[in-house]
Amino acid sequence: MPLAPQIEPLHPKIAPGDLPARLQPVAEHLKAPKNIKDLRRAMDGCRECPLWRNATQAVPGEGDLSEPLLALVGEQPGDQEDLAGHPFVGPAGRVLDKALEAARIPRAEVFVTNAVKHFKHEPRGKRRLHKRPDRGEIEVCRWWVKNELELIKPKLVVALGATAVQSLSNHKGSLTAARGRTFETREGQPLRATVHPSFLLRVPDKAAKEAEFDRFVADLKSAAAVARKL
Ligand code: URA
Repeated sequence: MPLAPQIEPLHPKIAPGDLPARLQPVAEHLKAPKNIKDLRRAMDGCRECPLWRNATQAVPGEGDLSEPLLALVGEQPGDQEDLAGHPFVGPAGRVLDKALEAARIPRAEVFVTNAVKHFKHEPRGKRRLHKRPDRGEIEVCRWWVKNELELIKPKLVVALGATAVQSLSNHKGSLTAARGRTFETREGQPLRATVHPSFLLRVPDKAAKEAEFDRFVADLKSAAAVARKL
């Protein structure tokens, strides 16, 4: 029996309020995914929103799969992640690696994943330009990230950027308001928020870029410090 639901995709503009009932078949089918391996296998077959159509594959989370110190949740795979099938292997991933090293957080103690599992993009000549997932897509895909986090049981979850905050929590304010404090995911796991590493790539001024990088490293350090005390 296939693990993934084979049902018609949602309309991209479906109201988020309609989602829980529509998502029922997924939840029913994979009621309690026994392990992360089954969940990852099923993910590639997800047809709950249209993003799979133009993506190479779903990109599941990876890293420490058993009670990692931190689970870092980004937005969605980028061009390189879509092709490779691994999260954070492109330019944003290199910034993240550098920041984790500066924060002295071993990669072996971290699980890295995304709020949305398929790459959303639009063609621009030969390039595929990243497009931000909309609310409906984030809500639909939440089921996958929620189950990843429930299975691996990180000590603390770190939302990288506004999309991850939106997916993981009920926080309605800005990312700035969420940054620097410990709150909870919708499922009650400890959560902190910081910027997405790709934000650092876009800061034009060299001094400002360095200052933002240092702030990002400080956020990761304090998330790890909080996690170690839990
Ligand atoms: N940006 C993300 O949010 N996730 C990735 O995996 C790559 C880039």
